[in-house]
Amino acid sequence: MAIISSKQQPIEPDPKPKQRRESKDDRKTPKASPKLDLLQPTATSDETDKLEEGLRPQRFADYIGQKDLKTVLEIAIKAAKGRGETMDHLLLYGPPGLGKTTMALILAAEMGTTCKITAAPSLERPRDIVGLLVSLKPGEILFIDEIHRLTRMAEELLYPAMEDFRVEIAIGKGQSARTRSLPLSPFTLVGATTRVGSLTSPLRDRFGLIHRLHFYEPEELTEIVLRSADLLKTPIDREGAEEIAGRSRGTPRIANRLLKRVRDYTQVKNLGKIDRKIADEALEVFNVDPRGLDWTDRKVLSVMIDNFKGGPVGIETIASATGEDVQTIEEVYEPYLMQIGFMLRTPRGRMVTPAAWQHMGYK
Ligand code: ADE
Repeated sequence: MAIISSKQQPIEPDPKPKQRRESKDDRKTPKASPKLDLLQPTATSDETDKLEEGLRPQRFADYIGQKDLKTVLEIAIKAAKGRGETMDHLLLYGPPGLGKTTMALILAAEMGTTCKITAAPSLERPRDIVGLLVSLKPGEILFIDEIHRLTRMAEELLYPAMEDFRVEIAIGKGQSARTRSLPLSPFTLVGATTRVGSLTSPLRDRFGLIHRLHFYEPEELTEIVLRSADLLKTPIDREGAEEIAGRSRGTPRIANRLLKRVRDYTQVKNLGKIDRKIADEALEVFNVDPRGLDWTDRKVLSVMIDNFKGGPVGIETIASATGEDVQTIEEVYEPYLMQIGFMLRTPRGRMVTPAAWQHMGYK
């Protein structure tokens, strides 16, 4: 599977606002956290292979959160099994790190089948996708990450595969060229994307189930941290888990990453059981803001406050002022800032809320 790796933060000092007073959070708040990618929701290859494998829930019974999605899928699975058919194709969308791959793997386990995992950028040539499709076993699940990045050609090969379980291949060239239709085993496609709006409508329309993954509630993340700590045989109390959960940006992948760093800190300092105080101390050392904001989140907010009196500001302006690209701001930073009520989208642009002004230490 093609892994999206975390982007390194540019090295720059923390923006120094003009009329800034020190807030309670300021003392705990990181200055710049330039090289830190603990708070990036995208996975590193190491995590995808090791960290996430060990901690991923294998069945719905172990999966915490995303209640609506679980209900819908449990019904779809039961119905498909009852009819002895494959489940409808499923499109999952939402910010990175919320468990789209995990859902596909659970789906396979619940259906009693296996799952082949790939990402759209690995399917550039027609033979990549044809080879993959013909290799599928009856009932197997095919997970395609970043499905909005499929080439036009790959997409067109997928249409008959999704609809009629066949693939059209071209044989020969020029005037003697013919197409041949190869039958495929029935399969379920699970597509994942952070940008559902970028999917073409013919592709989107071929999914029978389309579902969004939401950020996790703090209580759900607390349960996830407690479950992961148990699997890692790391002693922790509920308050310690709450502290980690509160700084995890609503994202299990980040919660598990922070837990591992707090575990290291606790072990090296010989502190025993992780409690709130230890978690707080450790996360301060790792420059994780009390609300889980990283350097870029804080830069976005301070640019909007200092340069634009809190907005409204256009997304392109925010992107160029922070040195990020528009897509990253839209997909990674903005969703969480909106989720915690720090940013609003208005017809005239983005605005910073009073809660964000306060968090950033302004009156
Ligand atoms: N680990 C990562 N995501 C999880 C989830 N949703 N439930 C339980 N453990 C997890």
